[in-house]
Formats: sequence, structure tokens, C-alpha cells
Amino acid sequence: MGKDVIIACDFDSAAKTFEFLDKFTGVKPFVKIGMELFYAEGPEIVREIKKRGHKIFLDLKLHDIPNTVKKAMAVLSRLDVDMTNLHASGTKRMMEAAIEGLTREDGTRPILIAVTQLTSTDQESMENDLLIKEPIDKVVMHYAKCASDSGLDGVVCSPLEAGKVHDTCGKSFVTVTPGVRFADGDVGDQKRVMTPAQAKEIGSDYIVVGRPITASPDPVAAYERCVKEFCD
Ligand code: C5P
Repeated sequence: MGKDVIIACDFDSAAKTFEFLDKFTGVKPFVKIGMELFYAEGPEIVREIKKRGHKIFLDLKLHDIPNTVKKAMAVLSRLDVDMTNLHASGTKRMMEAAIEGLTREDGTRPILIAVTQLTSTDQESMENDLLIKEPIDKVVMHYAKCASDSGLDGVVCSPLEAGKVHDTCGKSFVTVTPGVRFADGDVGDQKRVMTPAQAKEIGSDYIVVGRPITASPDPVAAYERCVKEFCD
């Protein structure tokens, strides 16, 4: 799997998304479409961005009974996304069903990664709300291992966890890491951040970068800076 910078297109309309993407005249960055944009515009937004030549990570975090996830994944596969995801807490059976649904007749399929524990979940809420009493780091690594055992390609994780995920699940198990900020940039609401260069150093395979690029006065330059720091 190649190293790449994925831009989080966290916009609420197709118009704003295209206004942003129109700035990229040369390169066609890998983009992440999340729930907000997908629910606002539907599958057509995926087709249109794909038609423009971008790779797409469709971040919908599926979690349902295995049969429903399998069928939903088959639809996403036909949409020709390049990467998509689900919640590892849906169990191995759900993850295996997802792979089945995602796999096309010719044997190809989008990259499938798992969310372990959301970064908004802390030890306290995990213990009190989910009744999981183990240390959160152990839970995250266990979920990553379950995803790997189920045939998934990787996990979404903090750049700080990427090294340990590779130690647990192997070097080729993909780590996709948000929470990236430039050394001289705004941290915003992200708590534990890393620069693109640090994410590279620690072994992230893909970084997901939103506001440092989308809110920049020069998004193309900000994207190029990310690529230079992370990929070169
Ligand atoms: O703007 P920013 O760079 O913070 O955007 C990061 C993107 O990654 C957002 O789309 C956010 O929802 C997503 N994300 C995250 N932290 C996670 C999982 C996903 O920031 N743990």
C-alpha cells in the first residue's frame, strides 16, 4: 500500500466541495467523503468526484448485523470507492461478511479498514457506558488484531498508535491516521496531534488531513506541503 495524504472533504454541499476541488488543477488528491457530505448529497457525489479522477475514502463507519453490512458493502463496492470502513466492535463475523460483500466478481475490492475505539471514547466512558473494563490501549490493539484476523487491510488510528499497530498486526497492515497538524499551525479541537513528518517517522501509511488544508488561504500549497513532509 502506498503512502498518501487524504484530504478530509468535510463540507456540507456538493457546491462547496467542488469549489474546493476546482483549486487543484494539476494533481488529483485522494479525498475522504464523510457522513455529512454523503448524507447531504447521496451516492452521486461519490460518482462525480470519482469522475474527476480522485481516489475516494468513503468514511461511513458501518456497524450492523453481518447480512446488512455485507449487502451495504456490495453497494459501496459498485460505487467504485478506493477505501471504506466499519466499526470493529461489530465483531469478526460482521467484518468477514463485509469483506465478502465488498469483493467484486473479479476478486478486486476497495481497501477496508476498521475503526477500533473512537478517539472521543476515553477510559471512563468505555468503562461506564460500554462496560469494558480493560485498559483502552489493550482494547484498541485487540480490535486491530480482530480486524486483521478477519482479513481487513488496516485500521484508523491516532498517529501515536501506528507503530504499535504495526508491531501487533504486521508491517503491511495499513494505518490511516487523522489528527495531523503543521508544526506552526492551529491545533483546533484535536487533542493529540502530530506533524506530517512525525506521522511518516512513526510509520503511518496514510494521513487524513482536513482543516490544515481546507481552511488554509492556499489549500494547494498546504496540500503540497503535507505531501512533501509525509511522502518524500
Ligand atoms: O480537520 P481535521 O484535520 O481535524 O480533520 C480530521 C478528519 O479525520 C475529520 O474528517 C475527522 O472526522 C476525522 N477523524 C478524526 N479523528 C478520528 C477519526 C476520524 O479526526 N479519530
